[in-house]
Amino acid sequence: MSETSFYTRAAFYWANVPATIDGILGGFGHISDIDIDGSKAFLREIFRFKNPPGRQLALDCGAGIGRISKNLLIPLFDKVDLVEQDEKFVDAAKKFIGENNRHLGTVYNIGLQHFKPQKMYDVIWCQWVLGHLNDYDLISFLERCNDALIRDGVIIIKENITTTNEVDYDEEDSSITRPYELMKQIIDEARLQILKTDIQLGFPDDIYPVYTFALAPIEPSDIEIV
Ligand SMILES: C[S@@+](CC[C@H](N)C(=O)[O-])C[C@H]1O[C@@H](n2cnc3c(N)ncnc32)[C@H](O)[C@@H]1O
Repeated sequence: MSETSFYTRAAFYWANVPATIDGILGGFGHISDIDIDGSKAFLREIFRFKNPPGRQLALDCGAGIGRISKNLLIPLFDKVDLVEQDEKFVDAAKKFIGENNRHLGTVYNIGLQHFKPQKMYDVIWCQWVLGHLNDYDLISFLERCNDALIRDGVIIIKENITTTNEVDYDEEDSSITRPYELMKQIIDEARLQILKTDIQLGFPDDIYPVYTFALAPIEPSDIEIV
């Protein structure tokens, strides 16, 4: 499939999805609370690191209607910016979060494949959206995020992972699900290192396993000279 149709099909799919938690989660709205609780526990452990990220500014990538911003990031950070390519979701997110919420920062209405962060972030959260980027665009997106991390900042990826070594393509929403090894390779290519990884517990058995990764730039001192 051409690159253009991979992206336009996804945009078309999301344009026809209602701006609700159930819509955003493909009929799995009932797992939202478990997901948020798992993410809170993961972030709590990140904040216990010896050099934890700051709490000033977070970025929610592929934010949908702001489910993660509202329930996870806004309670923890001074300001939260959002990136979301679907205009209807952007409008819904502002309402869902409350436009006057003093923690709501800039909302960018653009696809991640074109997005270049304009600020420096403590935490960049990417969940259930990276399957909408091809490998090439995902590597360059992560490289741009890498450049947009404040000292001790982290990128969090929370995504479905296949149980085989194959990439699965979902025709309905035009997304791919990657195997762990490919995700790891992409992370390496973007010159990031995995600080911590976890599998979300408590999800139904008939969905993909969901992995959370905390990533940080590879420091020059981490590179082995051979
Ligand atoms: C499964 S929803 C997840 C939303 C949110 N991350 C959450 O967990 O509640 C996927 C979201 O990614 C957005 N999306 C799809 N392709 C995108 C792209 N190329 N760039 C930015 N957002 C995209 C969709 O519009 C939708 O809001």
